[in-house]
Amino acid sequence: MKYIIREAQIHEKEAVNTAHVLSIREICSKDYSPEQIAGWSGVIYSDEVWINSLTNHFYRVVEVDGAIEGFCHANYHGENLGEIRGLYFTPKIKGHGIGKEIVELAKKYLIDLGAKKIVIGATKTAKPFYEKMGFIATGEEKLYHTRGTAFEYYPMEMIVTKL
Ligand SMILES: CC(C)(COP(=O)(O)OP(=O)(O)OC[C@H]1O[C@@H](n2cnc3c(N)ncnc32)[C@H](O)[C@@H]1OP(=O)(O)O)[C@@H](O)C(=O)NCCC(=O)NCCS
Repeated sequence: MKYIIREAQIHEKEAVNTAHVLSIREICSKDYSPEQIAGWSGVIYSDEVWINSLTNHFYRVVEVDGAIEGFCHANYHGENLGEIRGLYFTPKIKGHGIGKEIVELAKKYLIDLGAKKIVIGATKTAKPFYEKMGFIATGEEKLYHTRGTAFEYYPMEMIVTKL
């Protein structure tokens, strides 16, 4: 499959959201209830959050045949701490090694800024993927509350060093 990983553009908020929603509804739905999926996939970034993320963070999209099929959002918090905040692919691009590639790019971005630890709140769906990438679950399943719905997630982390 021919794909491009590139920086997200300001005008692509809706296209990124469409891929995000598809990923939640078609991939994460095997691990969460219909109520959870409905609440979760109804969340849309405000323009303020979107513009701040694109301006100040790592925000890459995966483009296939001119359409956005996934994204990865990461940022450096300071004090040697980085976070992967969002990584969502549509079924079209899942399972082709692109997740691994984009996580490596995010890791490099965070390490270059000074990260020594990278954390993730992993979905039940993506936990095995992150384990494969070398992340370790640091505690029990936790609940994230948004818009009246609670979602199970796993705090995970990886200690990283600059090569
Ligand atoms: C998480 C996600 C982005 C992974 O991307 P992907 O491109 O499908 O993953 P890759 O093809 O790069 O997989 C990399 C490796 O992880 C393994 N892997 C991926 N998903 C796995 C799973 N569920 N269980 C076990 N191994 C898995 C692959 O087999 C591959 O192994 P290899 O390097 O030995 O070949 C994608 O599955 C997704 O969008 N999931 C739904 C959204 C979600 O839950 N996001 C997480 C938010 S925290």
